[in-house]
Amino acid sequence: MTPIDATFSLVDHHGAAVTEQDYRGKWVTVFFGFTHCRMVCPRALGRLTTALDELGPPADKVQPLYITVDPERDSPEVMRAYLEGDHPRFTGLTGTPEQIERAKRAFRVFARRKDDPEDPDGYAVPHTAITYVLDPDGAYATHLTDGLDDKTFTERLRETVTQEA
Ligand code: NI
Repeated sequence: MTPIDATFSLVDHHGAAVTEQDYRGKWVTVFFGFTHCRMVCPRALGRLTTALDELGPPADKVQPLYITVDPERDSPEVMRAYLEGDHPRFTGLTGTPEQIERAKRAFRVFARRKDDPEDPDGYAVPHTAITYVLDPDGAYATHLTDGLDDKTFTERLRETVTQEA
């Protein structure tokens, strides 16, 4: 796999403008999704939280990011409320639709709005379910697919973030 570009210019869930440069010095995980997601995101965010809890002290050097593919609904305030309750390790990132499209292209993430009668607003945004890991210099290190079993996911994350930079 050709390394991804791994760049973005977005707004964090406190309303501050951020780029990938702001997280230099930490391992960064990047997962794209949307807060109305009923299955994929809750499971992915919960699994990463559990994996980091199991890592112990090395987890302090990991910053999980959650980038919305639904910027119309996922304002900084919405993302903050969503993450603070159940996934406090995460920082949520949003932006203008153009900023989100650029971030999706940089990470080669696919997501497109489609009708969903079970959603209160009538739509969902099915999305790629890959956890990207960037090294402390901001470069692509590896990616963890949704299909990995929990034990393998945790071990691969541990091997990645505990290697010598
Ligand atoms: Ni999702």
